[in-house]
Amino acid sequence: MIALPKPTFNALSPSILSANQLILGEQIKTVEILGASWLHIDIMDGHFVPNLSFGPATVKWVSTATKLAQDVHLMVEDPQKYLDAFIKAGASSLTLHVESKGNLRELLEQIRAKGVSTGISIKPDTDPNVLKQFLDIIDLVLVMTVYPGFGGQAFLENAQKQISEVKSIIAERPIWLEVDGGINKDTAKIAKEAGANAFVAGNALFAANDIEQAFKDLKDAIK
Ligand code: DX5
Ligand code: ZN
Repeated sequence: MIALPKPTFNALSPSILSANQLILGEQIKTVEILGASWLHIDIMDGHFVPNLSFGPATVKWVSTATKLAQDVHLMVEDPQKYLDAFIKAGASSLTLHVESKGNLRELLEQIRAKGVSTGISIKPDTDPNVLKQFLDIIDLVLVMTVYPGFGGQAFLENAQKQISEVKSIIAERPIWLEVDGGINKDTAKIAKEAGANAFVAGNALFAANDIEQAFKDLKDAIK
């Protein structure tokens, strides 16, 4: 298990949700060689969001295929059920939604105790002030810039405002401000100007005709 680095640079995090699952290993190698900062792994349970995706087995197999850290985004109703399995599988960070059930503070403490990085995510309509109670126990805030559930959606208009609010809450603390959903070379710039320093990209990379060019464009946008 590789924990996330400290936020001293702008990170690009390819989301494997949009990768071709038949050649997942190759796709991961491609973004690793191009200079991905880590991988974003979307976990969906069909309840918290109306879609299904991966489980701990994917995290385990991915960890055998790459040295990149895995930023695991839990879009599940009851995260407590799955923490141990994802930690055992090799997750580098576990991000819980503030809208999920359970004692999130306790869960974050459990995750930290295992040496895994911690994150809290907020959906587009959630008041960023809820983050204040977790600032001492998180390494990352994940701001959803689309309604979670599917790749390939458009960056929401009010996302910029939410990112700025989150940035002013995080202030100078060493906490990543990661954005997720509809990130491309144009929206990445908007998000960066609002204060983001980590950028998840699914479709903008894996659905591009030229992934190398798409990667370069995104890197330029967040430089
Ligand atoms: C959406 C997921 C995202 C998704 C982003 O619910 O959390 O991580 O993979 O995909 P794009 O970049 O295509 O919006
Ligand atoms: Zn995600």
